[in-house]
Amino acid sequence: MHSFTDLAKSFEDRFSASLPFPDAPGTLYDPCRYFMALGGKRIRPVLCLMANQLFDEISNDAWHAAMGIELLHNYTLIHDDIMDKAPLRRGQPTLHDKYGLTAGILCGDVMCIYAYSELGKITKAMPQVIQLFSKTAIEICEGQQLDMDFERRSNVSIDEYIHMITLKTSVLLACSLKMGAMVSGAFGDNANKLYAFGKNMGIAFQLQDDYLDAFGDTDKLGKQNGGDIKANKKTYLLIKALENADTAQRRSIEELLHGGTDTKVQEMLSLYTQTGADIQCREAVAHYSTLAFNCLDEVAIPSKRKEPLFELADYLLMRDK
Ligand code: IPE
Ligand code: IPE
Ligand code: MG
Ligand code: MG
Ligand code: MG
Repeated sequence: MHSFTDLAKSFEDRFSASLPFPDAPGTLYDPCRYFMALGGKRIRPVLCLMANQLFDEISNDAWHAAMGIELLHNYTLIHDDIMDKAPLRRGQPTLHDKYGLTAGILCGDVMCIYAYSELGKITKAMPQVIQLFSKTAIEICEGQQLDMDFERRSNVSIDEYIHMITLKTSVLLACSLKMGAMVSGAFGDNANKLYAFGKNMGIAFQLQDDYLDAFGDTDKLGKQNGGDIKANKKTYLLIKALENADTAQRRSIEELLHGGTDTKVQEMLSLYTQTGADIQCREAVAHYSTLAFNCLDEVAIPSKRKEPLFELADYLLMRDK
């Protein structure tokens, strides 16, 4: 069984050597290459490969699936950075900041299409894989739209938030695992349990992403700190802070949401801490991680074979970048 480190390295080598972009027009493909060379943790393709190796040796189909998934993920990040007005990604300027908005739109589009082209090379269960992938890609768009809609709403509930992050983030982790299983011929209970594992882990992953956006270190994260607060994103932290606040704290939070002072991020962070929202967010990460581990326990494969997945899940939920 290959570990996370081994698989991430093998994926990186193959991926950078076989990027599908031609040379011309350079104005389209140079920014695509720029973005891909920024790296990233490559979690989703590794999840796909790990799920595949639960059942057999890693197949060529699994590599195609993994590449398609990473291309789709990068397309969503390029468009997400436009939508979130983000200046930094993976420690470098975002694609649209460096090359302009139209490059950002079109590079995202073409990357999504290359993702499908990669899946077209799969020989086993291709129609089912593409169906799941398409359903997931649509859900991501729906989640991203809810994320934007929520910026303008002040009464978002925790249930609505969990629904939104399930769509925008967690289904892709779940889909990556299930695709790895499907191309090895596994469609039944095990594939569905892997999907459920990924879904809960994805929720914990986005909760952790929101926590790090507020309390993480920009140098480690490679993303702007406090971006969610600046954009009035309805994160778990903000929803819980509003829920827990006394009258004065609630008034302060609402004033910060309506105004845009220079100290908005610092003041909001302090309110998150005062109201205990930071601790509750950590507890929510732990809660969804436990649900995820329970689902992985139920996958009917010898525990030894599941070790790399447990290891990766541990790393993801403790991560600081
Ligand atoms: C960022 O995903 C987008 C979210 C769903 C939070 P990652 O944290 O996996 O980004 P990279 O690919 O490692 O940069
Ligand atoms: C992004 O969520 C989810 C997708 C890209 C679909 P975020 O907006 O929180 O991701 P980051 O923090 O910019 O990576
Ligand atoms: Mg973003
Ligand atoms: Mg976003
Ligand atoms: Mg984020």
